[in-house]
Amino acid sequence: MRVEEIKKVCVLGCGNMGSQIALNAAIHGFEVINMDVKEEMVAKASAFKDQYLPGRVQKGRLTEEQAKAAAQRISYTSDLEKAAGGADFVIEAVLERLDLKRQVFRELDRICKPDTILATNSSFIISSKIVDVTKRPEKVCNMHFFNPALVMELVEVVQGPHTSPETANVVMELAKKMGKTPVLLKKEVYGFLVNRILMALMDEATWLADMKVASPEDIDTAVTKALGHPMGPFRLMDLTGIDLHYDIAMELYRDTGDPKHKPSPLIVEKVTKGEFGRKSGKGWYEYKEQK
Ligand code: CAA
Repeated sequence: MRVEEIKKVCVLGCGNMGSQIALNAAIHGFEVINMDVKEEMVAKASAFKDQYLPGRVQKGRLTEEQAKAAAQRISYTSDLEKAAGGADFVIEAVLERLDLKRQVFRELDRICKPDTILATNSSFIISSKIVDVTKRPEKVCNMHFFNPALVMELVEVVQGPHTSPETANVVMELAKKMGKTPVLLKKEVYGFLVNRILMALMDEATWLADMKVASPEDIDTAVTKALGHPMGPFRLMDLTGIDLHYDIAMELYRDTGDPKHKPSPLIVEKVTKGEFGRKSGKGWYEYKEQK
């Protein structure tokens, strides 16, 4: 398959990542179906599109025609067969549970055309752990976007031992057509590039707060003002989800056995209390309206 042949993109999952990946693809000219099993998530993603596109026009980032065309190119559904049936390319962005992803890929392999590429946006599950449920291993890989996916430019394309060079190349080219800057990982490593680097920063920040050296607010101030990061590590954990941070840390810890990856007691406490960040209304900071 050549990247020019990709017209229809299916994005599974209407959560924060899925809905933004889908809308970004529609803005960049692809016909997109965004699917979720939960009707309320489907409605939420569609409502986000209705609010986001006019906002871009108001800010002068899109013309009225571009926004209208993007809106016409994207649709939402809770029907997997309808979403994936005609797709040339699928990006899975469902919950970060291995059993769920395996079930989804098994279904996709049955529903999709034989040459459809199946990519997972997982932050930490390598496609080697999923691929055996499909009969198209050479067409399976990781395509990892960053939060917020409409804004962040990087996409990590991770080539598993089963992924053909042709597939990796198409995914790299597709990311570029979606306005992103892709990097290719030629080996599967847990956490890929960015999360391995980011986790080191977040872990150190959390241990410093745990030792009561400084408050999360002051550590965030230190990182933004000294290192020039747009957000400090605690504010960023609230954006991406403290529960996700915990899951990635545990995966790295299990994989490497290195105690440096063990989540700090403060992280465990937050996860136990259900204080996951913006999505639960409270994390390291409180969020009155932003969920
Ligand atoms: N959704 C969509 N667009 C958003 C947004 C959101 N949640 N938040 C901000 N934006 C857009 C704004 O509309 C604005 O766009 P324009 O300039 O085109 O008008 C632009 O982003 C800047 O926004 P603001 O001026 O409101 O705010 P800001 O300058 O503080 O930027 C930010 C917000 C882009 C989130 C910035 O703080 C940032 O880059 N933070 C770091 C984010 C980051 O590190 N992400 C990677 C996380 S790691 C990850 O995702 C991996 C994983 O596996 C979990």
